[in-house]
Amino acid sequence: MKTVHSIAELRAQLDAWRREGARIALTPTMGNLHRGHLRLVEAARARAERVVASVFVNPLQFGPNEDFDRYPRTLAADAAHLASAGCDLLFAPSVAEMYPRGRDGFTTISVPRYADVLEGHFRPGHFDGVATVVNILLNLVTPDVALFGEKDYQQLLVIRQMVEDLHLPIEIVGVPTEREPDGLALSSRNQYLQPQERAQAAQLYAGLRRIADALRRGERDFAALCARETAALEAAGFRPQYVTVRRPDLSEPVAADRDFRILLAAFLGNTRLIDNIGLLEL
Ligand code: PAJ
Repeated sequence: MKTVHSIAELRAQLDAWRREGARIALTPTMGNLHRGHLRLVEAARARAERVVASVFVNPLQFGPNEDFDRYPRTLAADAAHLASAGCDLLFAPSVAEMYPRGRDGFTTISVPRYADVLEGHFRPGHFDGVATVVNILLNLVTPDVALFGEKDYQQLLVIRQMVEDLHLPIEIVGVPTEREPDGLALSSRNQYLQPQERAQAAQLYAGLRRIADALRRGERDFAALCARETAALEAAGFRPQYVTVRRPDLSEPVAADRDFRILLAAFLGNTRLIDNIGLLEL
């Protein structure tokens, strides 16, 4: 696997592959890779002849009080993981390479349908930062297919909407969430958890499962269901920001619906965790 840091080197490699007629897949990441990220690379491998991964901790998508500075940067280990998962090219640009004029006044992509709800409500500007950097990466690589995790379900919808609205000829594939044996969704932020918090963190998935079971039994008082699980998380030491039942497109559900997405976000100590499940996928 080759690693490049500049846009010029990236383009040179891609031009060569395109001349060969290769189908190209892109897996964007912020690095500190775990098994969940590698699942995306494996799914990419199965869909294309050439797999490109990017590692870029994108300042545009972090709020002023978020963890941009302390976000774990582990490029050497990431490169080794990517190579063994079958990645062909790692693009790891600097902030200056991506945003040469700085972040102020930079062109922004915004997807208003999802910008202000759930994650967007609690992280203002976050999805503008995500959509902007993903649009840049898609433009630079022009892959045939790009892969994103369902772990960040709202992000996946934002990207699908952007690609549809901007008529980008790129297939967007969602990959199921990879979990620890106790159900905790893999996340680079799990390593911020103290040992005691790590043991508690599995309650998030347990709560999602309880809501899913109740919906499957026919319960349709969505507000009461979510209030019950919010209280259970508070009792277990979490500070929940939202626990919600939605339609798969994140609009409000009605009693006659059969499929749902259950999503939550909660602080455990200083660490903010998110998770979600779909009813029909279980
Ligand atoms: P990052 O958090 O590094 O995640 C990169 C990709 O891996 C995302 O598509 C995410 O949904 C997926 N992923 C993370 N944890 C996963 C898990 N447990 N199972 C399956 N997939 C998982 O998401 C981002 O980076 C950034 O917002 C990015 C899209 C790269 C834009 O900066």
